[in-house]
Amino acid sequence: MHGAPRITRRALTTRRIFLGLGLLSLLYPLLRFIGFRLPRKPQLIEVAKKIVPGKQQQFPQFILFARENRVWAVSRKCTHLGCTLHYVEKEDLLECPCHQSRFATDGRLLNGPAKTALATYPVEQRQEPPFYIVTL
Ligand code: FES
Repeated sequence: MHGAPRITRRALTTRRIFLGLGLLSLLYPLLRFIGFRLPRKPQLIEVAKKIVPGKQQQFPQFILFARENRVWAVSRKCTHLGCTLHYVEKEDLLECPCHQSRFATDGRLLNGPAKTALATYPVEQRQEPPFYIVTL
């Protein structure tokens, strides 16, 4: 007897798997298009050196400030186009070398062209090294 070729169970399962993978590969760009993002895993940065109150330490992603009993971390990424900000000690503020946006040390926008404040990050203070743990 010759008729339509029979599809084995194994071949059918393989087809279903490839069809499922194909649909999943279409789903992800669609979810990204509507704004869905996978939550980013927090990055912990350990700071071994204690900061003298009134001073700061610059890191590639943030600046850690210490004033009296308070310690806080502010992003160094400019909210305009992403240039790396520099701390201007004479004026106690952060300035962008690209288009001169200026930010207060707590991240507030002082003047543009940037339109939004800087990101700030939680800082855990400890009594022994690492003295600070910054969560990015
Ligand atoms: S990138 Fe900072 S002001 Fe334009």
